[in-house]
Amino acid sequence: MPFSLLPCVALALLGLQAPKDTKPTARIQIDLSAPSKPVSQNLYGIFLEEINHAFDGGLYGELVQNRSFEEGVPPPGMTMIPKPDGTFRMELTSLPAGVPKDKWEMPWPWNGNSVWDPKRALIGWSLQKALGSTGTMQLTEANPMNAASSRSLELALDSPGAALLNSGYWGIAAKSGDAYALRYFVRPGTFRGTIRTELISESGKVLSSVANTTVAPGNTWREIKGSIKVTATDSKAQLRLTFEGTGTLQLDWVSLFPPTWNGLPIGLRPDLAQYLAGLKPSFVRFPGGCYVEGLSFEMAPDWRKTLGQPTERPGMWGYWQYRSTDGFGFHEYLQFCETLKADALYVAFAGMTVHPENNWPLDKIDPVVQQTLDAIEYAIGPTTSKWGALRAKNGHPKPFPLKYVEIGNEHPPALYGDYYAVFRKAIKAKYPQIQVVMSMFWSGLNQPAIDRVGDANIDIVDEHAYRGSGWARSSFDYFDRYPRKGWGIYVGEYAHNQRADFSAALDDSLFLMMMERNGDLVKMASYAPLLANVNKRDWGVNLIEFDSHRSFAHASYYVQKLFRENHPDRSVKTTVTTTPASDPKAPLMSGKIGLGAWNTSTEFKELRVYDAEGKLVHTDDFVDLSAFDAPLSGTWSVKNGVLQQTDTRVDPAMLLLKSPLKTGKITVKARRVDGREGFLLFFNAENRDRFLFGNYGANGNEFTAIQERGVPDDCAFRGGRSTPGPIEQGRWYELSLVITESRAELFLDGKRVSDARVEKMPSLFATAGLRQKDDTVIVKATNYSAQPREAEFVIDGTVVKGGNGRHFIYQASALSDDNSLENPTKLVPHEKSFPVSGNRITLTLPPFSVSVVQVPVKPAK
Ligand code: AHR
Repeated sequence: MPFSLLPCVALALLGLQAPKDTKPTARIQIDLSAPSKPVSQNLYGIFLEEINHAFDGGLYGELVQNRSFEEGVPPPGMTMIPKPDGTFRMELTSLPAGVPKDKWEMPWPWNGNSVWDPKRALIGWSLQKALGSTGTMQLTEANPMNAASSRSLELALDSPGAALLNSGYWGIAAKSGDAYALRYFVRPGTFRGTIRTELISESGKVLSSVANTTVAPGNTWREIKGSIKVTATDSKAQLRLTFEGTGTLQLDWVSLFPPTWNGLPIGLRPDLAQYLAGLKPSFVRFPGGCYVEGLSFEMAPDWRKTLGQPTERPGMWGYWQYRSTDGFGFHEYLQFCETLKADALYVAFAGMTVHPENNWPLDKIDPVVQQTLDAIEYAIGPTTSKWGALRAKNGHPKPFPLKYVEIGNEHPPALYGDYYAVFRKAIKAKYPQIQVVMSMFWSGLNQPAIDRVGDANIDIVDEHAYRGSGWARSSFDYFDRYPRKGWGIYVGEYAHNQRADFSAALDDSLFLMMMERNGDLVKMASYAPLLANVNKRDWGVNLIEFDSHRSFAHASYYVQKLFRENHPDRSVKTTVTTTPASDPKAPLMSGKIGLGAWNTSTEFKELRVYDAEGKLVHTDDFVDLSAFDAPLSGTWSVKNGVLQQTDTRVDPAMLLLKSPLKTGKITVKARRVDGREGFLLFFNAENRDRFLFGNYGANGNEFTAIQERGVPDDCAFRGGRSTPGPIEQGRWYELSLVITESRAELFLDGKRVSDARVEKMPSLFATAGLRQKDDTVIVKATNYSAQPREAEFVIDGTVVKGGNGRHFIYQASALSDDNSLENPTKLVPHEKSFPVSGNRITLTLPPFSVSVVQVPVKPAK
């Protein structure tokens, strides 16, 4: 008898049953006879914003940073307040009458980091003097090159051989064999000699052919154009202009372009443009985001200044704290939409800035509305109209595919509703075919603004969805429960916004399923932000990242691509059942317990811990701290039976008991001594990043509630009702916390003030739909489990065609896995085919995976 059979035989002989098989399985039942819903065919779009150097130093192919020397031009409408370190803080220059003085400071994210560094005026540029030379460079406003260029660079050179260097956007990518287009403008002044241009490495090695220009003294601006051929590859090349001569000259608009995407004159970096094209977007939202709001209304973006010759565009200092050349301007954006066969969704400045107090008065809003009407006319107006004629003059007589106009971005006040209504009325009067998008928040609706407009006067609302880990998993029915009011939803910015890794890709797959299966409501969606230069990330989680010469897409990109390529027309009823079922008695609240405070000095005494049967398991009258782990944070000591925490600047101070508690009760007395809030009772705590807690005097001592900072794996936190009221200073309070398997209740002086539960979240999600053009059932399934799951797909209500099905599998070996610059295609989906012979198909869904399954069916009669 083989050894491996022994235990079963032995069990059989003993008359015992073999242990139940706990291998995870699932049944995914798809019913095509049940009522179905449309899936929006415009669901998958993209959103482009000048953030993280997405355009300049990214998608827009220009290699020279600060090419027109305008980087140091202060943003209009902002006053610079000097700081002791030589930098400046920015404040609005003026506020509307009646707004109190304390509103002048910029709100988030400007309150923390609105620093103006005068040194950045020459960012990218440096001067290498010839040996023994006293040559100088400085910015000048004299003799400007044109009206758009307020500054140029003046070089005073007293001996030949000085070299001006530009380091590009964290290095220029030189690719051997490629020809780069060079263009610059010079006003020779008193200079006589030759200007030699080439690419060099950081150590000075020449990497390209040389372009020479001979210059004689003169006071007019000359344009120099040329080409240099790269002879050696280098990711950190620099552009060098060497001046073989002497005299004082001015230089402006120094530009170098590598070969661009599809050879298009709009000049896009090929790898980045290709990532975007790969998503096959049905629309493109542009140019923001916060970018459209402006810090002051003087500096809100004006599309008209982004047209025409790039040399004629002044550029602007944008919301994300750097200057944009506007090389990728309104026309190029519309052109890009057309090339991608996507509709344009233009976001107009609403007259409301990011500073909530600094808006155009509504009764004077006409010029701002007109600016939007003109933008529409430029895009789709007849060539006989003023702006349509300019479009034709700019080389595009045909209308562009502009279909949507959004009014502003993320404006919190109810008043925004009034602005939207004015814009919508004006747009609909002239362009009834345009869908006018109403902007909401970074998550959820701006209901007060909607109420001001009235549901019947809204086409579509743009609700953003920056969500944390687990949100999609615990809110899979979010759109199913959504009220239907006649308007549609556009999720203009969404992302699992906590981590950029495979766990985010899994959450994003759920979010896409949620939207696909609610196509009657959710019409469009676009991930944000899309592009980020790794050398200047303004935002934590981005989809596509790059440096001067490399790029990669995070895991979530391939989910979007896979779903886009497997886009059904109708979503059909799908029921998921899994085994083993989760155990309702699992002790989800158990873990370490402890005491703490948030920016507050506190005292505790008479700590008692009871188990579930009410037996006292720990008494602490604070003779010493031997029952506790070393403090995780804060300054803790004991004195006369009282535990003291004295640090008022730590968030939070944290002291955990050595013994964990499964279920039971904690009581303790606590007194606030100094600081901003009250006390904390920790439970289910693992470390400083993962705990649940009773927060007495939360949010600057406003309320008390159970809160979480990270729940156990695969769990969702629910509840956390709050009770308003502060914690008084100097008074002893009685705190207690009761913990059962999955619930916690918090008490203050014997009164229940909050309760919460932790629930196990499902680990398998699936939706299905029908693609009518080729009679294919498309099932999407996401397995969060570390185990493979054998899934039986049961397809009812149709006749399954024989032949082969397709199984696209996108998986990772750990949730923290991802692609990177070094390994850009570590995680990409792969495909397997499987035979189909009936309406039941069994496939294995690998651990941590997203699957898309295609099953051919017979056409419906
Ligand atoms: O996508 C990044 C920013 O997030 C956008 O500019 C803004 O709309 C949102 O708050």
